[in-house]
Amino acid sequence: MKKVVVLSGAGISAESGLKTFRGSDGLWENHNVYDVATPEAWAKNPALVQKFYNQRRQQCRAAQPNAGHFALVDLEKDFDVHIITQNIDDLHERAGSTNILHLHGEITKARSSTNETLVYDLKDGDIQMGDTCAEGSQLRPHIVWFGELVPNISIAQKIIRNADFLIIVGTSLNVYPAAGLVHFAPNYCNTILVDPNDCPTTNLKQLSIIKEIAGTGLSKAAKLIRSIA
Ligand code: APR
Repeated sequence: MKKVVVLSGAGISAESGLKTFRGSDGLWENHNVYDVATPEAWAKNPALVQKFYNQRRQQCRAAQPNAGHFALVDLEKDFDVHIITQNIDDLHERAGSTNILHLHGEITKARSSTNETLVYDLKDGDIQMGDTCAEGSQLRPHIVWFGELVPNISIAQKIIRNADFLIIVGTSLNVYPAAGLVHFAPNYCNTILVDPNDCPTTNLKQLSIIKEIAGTGLSKAAKLIRSIA
């Protein structure tokens, strides 16, 4: 089976009602990202950070996967599909995709603020100040904040190194190291970019651009891959 690697970003969840990061106002849900998504923000005002992510979690639970997520599930019938997502939502999982690597963490989980190996599923709950891990430290969102290392980046590089096809969908390719992953694709890899807006495309190999939203664009990408494979 040929290998299809998908690098997804916030745009794939836009049609599910979740906002992208770099909208026209430059704010994420009315906040400057540095006030809510950095270790400095956590040190300065952890209650604000918890409240912000509790709201994001509730929004995510209320959202449903869309046609774009389902088009990627359907590709698994014919291809070895690996999804590398920058998204913290669980819409790829709930759509039914089976190989998913989260680069920037998962909103559905909490982790210890002092021991990053202690990670907990949140089920229906939120995280409150005073909620602690097994070692007694405060729980924080299981999110990779700006300025923190991306622990899954080397696994992602390995996944992409022998991709036959690379689909890039719904990401402005602005944030590193995630954006740099595209350069790990081998020379024989066909790349398909799905985005309704212009994205940086320098050095992308054998590139086809589908300038559409994920819902319609990903089924066209799947058709294109099936016609080449
Ligand atoms: N379908 C596909 N793409 C879309 C859609 C849609 N319906 N709507 C918007 N887009 C595109 C935008 O044109 C843009 O290129 O999705 C992209 C979203 O870009 P960003 O908001 O920058 O999101 P992303 O690239 O995922 O951000 C990367 O930055 O803030 C951090 O950690 C956060 O994971 C995030 C990272």
